[in-house]
Amino acid sequence: MEERYAFIAEWYDANASLTRRYQFLYFPSDNAIEMYDIKNRRIFLKRSKFEAIKPEQLFISSVINVHSRQLTLVDYADDFTRTKLTNRTERTLAIIKPDAVSKMGTILDIIANEGFSLCHVKMVRLSRKAAAEFYAEHTGKHFFDQLLDFMTSGPAVAIELMAPNCIRKWRQLIGPTNPAKAREESPGSIRAKFGTDGTRNACHGSDSPSSAEREIGFFFRRDHSNIAQFSNCTLGIIKPHAVASGLGGKIINEIQAKGFQISVLEMFFLERANGDEFLEVYKGVVSEYTQMVAQLCSGPCIAMEIVAENAPTEFREIVGPSDPEIARHLRPHTLRAMFGKDKIQNAVHCTDLPDDGVLEVEYFFRVLQN
Ligand code: RTP
Ligand code: MG
Repeated sequence: MEERYAFIAEWYDANASLTRRYQFLYFPSDNAIEMYDIKNRRIFLKRSKFEAIKPEQLFISSVINVHSRQLTLVDYADDFTRTKLTNRTERTLAIIKPDAVSKMGTILDIIANEGFSLCHVKMVRLSRKAAAEFYAEHTGKHFFDQLLDFMTSGPAVAIELMAPNCIRKWRQLIGPTNPAKAREESPGSIRAKFGTDGTRNACHGSDSPSSAEREIGFFFRRDHSNIAQFSNCTLGIIKPHAVASGLGGKIINEIQAKGFQISVLEMFFLERANGDEFLEVYKGVVSEYTQMVAQLCSGPCIAMEIVAENAPTEFREIVGPSDPEIARHLRPHTLRAMFGKDKIQNAVHCTDLPDDGVLEVEYFFRVLQN
């Protein structure tokens, strides 16, 4: 029988205010999909080639854009799919702790090079209560208070990682808990390179499938206080094509190396309607408008509040001309020259008009977040 993967997919129909459920089938032999409307018991989309989809997107909670609809894969629909994909798509919760947030670009780049996928990313600042809950298993231990002081001392970046054998693989990559020991036993590890002492050890990794499940829920399935500052800021977006090619870390690294502060950052999955609304100022002005919207909604993007004096102007300078070909000739050290492919897949969006910096940050970190 032909190999095929079956999922239950949900789509929130905003017009009808209801969630529609589909059986979603993927056929690797010809990169085709098929959808079946579960409630109405009929074919919704007959089997057709769908080049945009990649096998790596097939995992539970993945968001897939099919003809402008944002589908979420909520469950496996048969045992073959479950058995085949469960180990390959193991998830863990990684944290870039407050001491290493200034190195997050480098660390995210290591993560990409080691073959992990990013399912979700979110910068948060933990309250003492939240930190105590997260580390409840250590309540009463001699290092507990110090650990809470540290984890609440600044923002941290929570990352849902996916890879075969993800939990073990990530703990191996971060190395022993104590950085001094890590430098002896595993000098290439992240804690050896970026950790300071027994408390300030750069990264966290879940220690079992049940902790991973709990910890991912802790960061990604409930609200955390908004840490955007909405002043002296501009918006930067790492576009979906760049996120999908694993360039996020390299781009963030460049931004940090050039002295910009990234005060908040989060992965977003944009609906067509939101992409349209956000890019509306370019409608009728830029001829590639429709393709720009399509690119922005084609997969997860990473939005950042970037803080600096004259942030919109300064950040635009390092992003460079909108056409990467031109950028490579005129401004080879700009982000678009280094990471862009063409005018649509130009790696990074930045706010154009100085007055719009705060507004664009608000669109992502106030409007969309709610
Ligand atoms: P994590 O939970 O952060 O991934 O680290 P881990 O499993 O390797 O270590 P764990 O025993 O769970 O400890 C949690 C965190 O508490 C801090 N700690 N300080 N000063 C000390 O003796 C001490 N021991 C642990 C570290 O930040 C450790 O990662
Ligand atoms: Mg632990």
